[in-house]
Amino acid sequence: MKVVASGSIKGGVGKTASAVNLAAEATRSGARVLVWDLDPQGSATYLLRVEHRLAGRGARGLIAADATLARHVRATMVTGLHLLPSDRSLRFLDLHLDATGDRHRRLAELLQPLHDAYDVVILDCPAGASLAFEGALRASDVLLVPVIPSTLAVVTLAQLEDLVAGRKPRPELLGHVSMLDRRKPLQREIADALLDRPDMLRTVVPNSTAIEGMGPERGPVTAFAPNSVAARAYRALWGELADRLWG
Ligand SMILES: Nc1ncnc2c1ncn2[C@@H]1O[C@H](COP(=O)(O)OP(=O)(O)OP(=O)(O)O)[C@@H](O)[C@H]1O
Ligand SMILES: [Mg+2]
Repeated sequence: MKVVASGSIKGGVGKTASAVNLAAEATRSGARVLVWDLDPQGSATYLLRVEHRLAGRGARGLIAADATLARHVRATMVTGLHLLPSDRSLRFLDLHLDATGDRHRRLAELLQPLHDAYDVVILDCPAGASLAFEGALRASDVLLVPVIPSTLAVVTLAQLEDLVAGRKPRPELLGHVSMLDRRKPLQREIADALLDRPDMLRTVVPNSTAIEGMGPERGPVTAFAPNSVAARAYRALWGELADRLWG
């Protein structure tokens, strides 16, 4: 089982779009895939058409000493793709994690029993550098960071590199260019500079109306617009990521 955290300090950069589309792509090769929606916003939960609610005591029960994640897992409309849904109480997840004996390792511990049930787990992280994000980093093989081609997003990428650098074990940080609008020269320039870096995947996810359509369609772009440029980009991105995970 490989664990990928789709995360960034920055909000609105395409973390959820990447998590949902890459998860759907992963199932095409027969992989058993779980998306864990750690964001109280519940965007991945909405897009995968699952009720925005955890059974029992919400976030507190989710990480309690006697908790099992499996009881919360739901099937989705995508064959082979399961979801551990969000719940509004996840806004207090950091408080509950802080109250556990091992606040940094708890998410990794909870995932352990799922090891043989899934080939890939994708954690859809909320924006920010919270305790939950620390836990996600501990649990992950790869931190996948969507980077919009803007100066401030590049600054954030450097902050994330610092955050990951001091960690043992540490996830491999891999960025990908997200929402590139090729009509804008500054965006092209920043994207080109990003693509020179060894920690960036080669595939660029363009700014795309098909991806915006994920909201009204409520599904991965690969399901309702499989031949769109965006769907092809996520297919290529998953290919690259899979090579880094298993290659
Ligand atoms: N490549 C893209 N082209 C155009 N719109 C996009 C693209 N990727 C994401 N979006 C849109 O941008 C918005 C933010 O995307 P998304 O929710 O995936 O970002 P996020 O990083 O998960 O945000 P948050 O920090 O709120 O969790 C959404 O409305 C989404 O539809
Ligand atoms: Mg999100």
